[in-house]
Amino acid sequence: MTMVLDTFRVTGQEPDARLESRSGAGVRAVRASDGHAAYLKVTPATLGAPAIAAARRELRFYAEVAPIAPVRAPRLLDYLDAESGVAVLLEAAGETRQASAWTTGMWADLGRDLAGLHSMAIPTGADWQHPDALQEALIDPNLDEINSFWAPTLPHLGELLARRVELMEQTRAVPPAFVHGDCHTANLVHSAGAIVFCDWQAAGIGRPASDLAFLSVRATPTGTTVPPALVDAYLDTRACDRRTLQRALLAEELAVFVFLWPAFAAFNTPEGIARVRRRTRELAQRWFSADAGVTPRHPQGNHIDSP
Ligand SMILES: Nc1ncnc2c1ncn2[C@@H]1O[C@H](COP(=O)(O)OP(=O)(O)OP(=O)(O)O)[C@@H](O)[C@H]1O
Ligand SMILES: [Mg+2]
Repeated sequence: MTMVLDTFRVTGQEPDARLESRSGAGVRAVRASDGHAAYLKVTPATLGAPAIAAARRELRFYAEVAPIAPVRAPRLLDYLDAESGVAVLLEAAGETRQASAWTTGMWADLGRDLAGLHSMAIPTGADWQHPDALQEALIDPNLDEINSFWAPTLPHLGELLARRVELMEQTRAVPPAFVHGDCHTANLVHSAGAIVFCDWQAAGIGRPASDLAFLSVRATPTGTTVPPALVDAYLDTRACDRRTLQRALLAEELAVFVFLWPAFAAFNTPEGIARVRRRTRELAQRWFSADAGVTPRHPQGNHIDSP
C-alpha cells in the first residue's frame, strides 16, 4: 500500500482509514497530489487469480466503459496494473446513505439508472463473461450448508431444491445485459442529487434481475423493504414485460437467499438473520402461489418482487 501511495503521489487521510471491504481489496480515502479527495483501491496478487481478474475487470470498466456508460461512475484518476497487484485511484464521488434513509424518489432514480445501464449495448473488445455464483449454486448446490441453515424454518425447502432448474430458468427470463453485478446501497454514493455507482468488480454480462433483486437481498437484514418505485421506474424506462420481470425478480431473490445466503449468515446479526428467514418464507409462499398465475399490475404490499 505504501508503495502505491508513493507511486500515485497521494497521502492517506488518516493512518487507519480503511473502509469495510468484503472483496479483500484495501480501500482507503486519500488526498490526490492536487489536494482533491480520492479513493485508492488496491488488490494485491496474493489474494489469488479470481481477485486479480475482478480487479482488472473493474479497471477495464473505469477505463473503457465508464466514459460511454449511461450511469455515473467515479472518474479514474490513475491506475497501476503490475505483477504484484492492481490499484485504482478514483475521484471521491459522494457519500453512501443507509438503505433506510433512501427516499422513494431515490429508489425511482436508481430504477431509471439501472434500466439505462441494462439497455446499453454490451461493450465490444473485451470478454465481459465471468463466473456466476448463483447459477453454479443452482446446478451444484451445497446441500449440507443449505439444509442445516434452512430446514428448520423453511417448510418449502424440499420442493424448492427439487424445482431448482425451473427457478434457474425463471431468473433468466429477461435476456442478458451489461449489469453492475454487486448492486447494493453501500456501493452507491450520492452527489448533488445523482447516484454514482462504485465497485465494478463484478460488472459484465449477466441477468438484469440480479441487479434489482440484490438491492433487496442486502437491504432485508437491515429491516428495509425496497419500495415498488424501483421496479416501476425501471419499467417506465425500459421496454420489458412487467410480469416476466416480476417473475424473474422473485425467482432471483428467492434463489439467492436459499442457495447462497447460508454462507453469509455468519456476517449478520441474529435480528438480521430472523428478517431473512421471514422474507424468504414470504417469497417462497409467493413463488408457489404464483403457480396459480394471477398477477395484479400493482402488487399489494411494499415489495419489489410480488408476482
Ligand atoms: N470513488 C469513491 N467515491 C466515494 N466512495 C467510494 C469510492 N470508492 C469507494 N468508496 C467507498 O468505499 C467502499 C468500498 O469500496 P469498494 O466497494 O470499491 O470496495 P470493495 O472491497 O469491492 O467492497 P465490497 O467488496 O465490500 O463491496 C464503497 O462501498 C464506498 O462506500
Ligand atoms: Mg463494495
